[in-house]
Amino acid sequence: MKKTQVNSNINFVNNKQLFIKQIKANYFRNYKNLELNLSADNIILVGHNGVGKTNILEAVSYLTSGRGIRKAKSKDLIFNNFDEKFYEDLFWGVHASVFVMDKTFEIGTGIQKNNNSRLVKINGEFAKQSDLSKLVKISWITPQMLLVFHNGMQEKRRFIDRLINISNPIHVGLLYRYEFLIKERLKIINNYDGNKIWIDTIENDIVNLSINIIESRRKFVSEMQNIYFKSDLNEDFFPDICIEITGKAEDLLDSLGKEKYHSKMIEILRKNRNHGISTFIGPHKSELLIFKRESKQEIKYCSTGEQKVMLISLIFKHCDLMESIYKQTPILLLDDIIEHLDDIHKRVLFEKTSEHNSQCWFTCTNSRAFKDYPVSYKLIDVNKLQKNFSKKRELKYA
Ligand SMILES: Nc1ncnc2c1ncn2[C@@H]1O[C@H](COP(=O)(O)OP(=O)(O)OP(=O)(O)O)[C@@H](O)[C@H]1O
Ligand SMILES: [Mg+2]
Repeated sequence: MKKTQVNSNINFVNNKQLFIKQIKANYFRNYKNLELNLSADNIILVGHNGVGKTNILEAVSYLTSGRGIRKAKSKDLIFNNFDEKFYEDLFWGVHASVFVMDKTFEIGTGIQKNNNSRLVKINGEFAKQSDLSKLVKISWITPQMLLVFHNGMQEKRRFIDRLINISNPIHVGLLYRYEFLIKERLKIINNYDGNKIWIDTIENDIVNLSINIIESRRKFVSEMQNIYFKSDLNEDFFPDICIEITGKAEDLLDSLGKEKYHSKMIEILRKNRNHGISTFIGPHKSELLIFKRESKQEIKYCSTGEQKVMLISLIFKHCDLMESIYKQTPILLLDDIIEHLDDIHKRVLFEKTSEHNSQCWFTCTNSRAFKDYPVSYKLIDVNKLQKNFSKKRELKYA
């Protein structure tokens, strides 16, 4: 039987492992005081353009580490209402009660005045962002992510590196260090004072890191390959997606093996000390292909709707990878996801999200699409939230 039929046996008894029971946002974007009380049900935020739907998803995205779904600067998040007399003194905070497996955790995060780094509290105790990402996994699909497929290689590498980092949190550290050392090397070359030992050390580290980054990316590609649609999205409609990473450094590593690659790269770096970053190969130059496994069709040649479908496939596959590693499926934030999807894709997606082990959040301007399907969800009319500002001024981030 094709799974295009609505599955009438969908289990309406919620068995979500990870969900937000309550979220409050203070002085965050267009919300002075937002409070949502929720159950394990999936959430549909419905409202006019510009009313604050994506802002709510963004607040949720700060319940894990990183810079949220918009990669915003912290100061841009501060409630910016020009009628607000005390604007100068404000800062933002998000507080949530989150159900994780079988316990509820109180999570608070935000920025305080005169302090640019994001504070995190878990159950009232200060914690690191990395503790937060261990506790709560969140993944998302936003319209901006589709642009990545039309942008240059650097954007594509960043997109994949972010996915890798969610499943292998040391990856980003390798990349930062690699990029930092490349800049350091360039600085030394530009002001060369004959300190050969220092530049030798840096080049040695660059080469070692280049091997680690290539290996970490390859591990991810092969893990994703092995997941092969365990995700159970209807394959006819959500095709299996493959990622391929190629490049001169990758070829050299394959042909020479690690040891000889190391000596060859050191030789290349030494010869080219006077020519800077553009003169040597490495993972900063890797080429990335994202394509449908069966037809080999590359994502950038697909229609807008097809690209959205491919992105959904890729992110669900990544959720399965996370589940296999951490035994926890991430909360999914799906911003404007149903625009451009035809009825059959919506139906399969709704089935999939209702069976997803963690809460899924949708935004849309019209909730009609959801009403046609027998899936359980909580509908929140965001237009109404805006009329109920509380007069409270205290920031509660924990
Ligand atoms: N720091 C801020 N302070 C106050 N308002 C802000 C701030 N940052 C953004 N906004 C406003 O928040 C509003 C809601 O933005 P949001 O992106 O959440 O809308 P949306 O409901 O998702 O709209 P769409 O349907 O078009 O995607 C916008 O009008 C934006 O100008
Ligand atoms: Mg939006």
